[in-house]
Amino acid sequence: MREKVAVVPGSFDPITLGHRDVIVRAAALFDRVVVGVAVNAAKRPLLPAAVRVELVENCLAGVTSVTVAQVPGLLAEFCREVGAVAIVKGLRGGHDLGQEEPMALVNKELTGIETVFLAAAPNWGHISSSLVKDVARHGGDVSAYVSPAVAQALATASR
Ligand code: PNS
Repeated sequence: MREKVAVVPGSFDPITLGHRDVIVRAAALFDRVVVGVAVNAAKRPLLPAAVRVELVENCLAGVTSVTVAQVPGLLAEFCREVGAVAIVKGLRGGHDLGQEEPMALVNKELTGIETVFLAAAPNWGHISSSLVKDVARHGGDVSAYVSPAVAQALATASR
């Protein structure tokens, strides 16, 4: 039987432990997961794409069946290229759903790819990359929300 591949896409600017939780849970549901570090046209990233990829790899070291790649263009096209059967995204409530639902529908219209939503675990539901960046920018401790390598990268980038 053909292996079932899922893509977990995002800006990952930077990856948080909330993202990590969703990726690990996706890896338990599918044979293989490709984390896609993509461009969100509505956001200006703090960290360059290559650094974001490295940090995702570092944060997921030791998690089998997960690989990381940069999404060069359209996410739906990337999913077709890697043979994905689904996109997986985490939802932190109604606000996320409002943003994610149109993207899920457009991706479905573009290539037929389905999106599966996983409810964010309660301990991560309040965490976002933006919030973490804001705390780090002002010298706060982000070690409860991100991996040590991400905390270090944020400290360097915020200097
Ligand atoms: O972590 P984010 O910023 O919520 O992720 C959004 C992202 C990067 C997955 C989305 O902007 C995206 O898919 N970008 C790639 C370009 C694309 O396919 N755009 C059309 C989306 S329907």
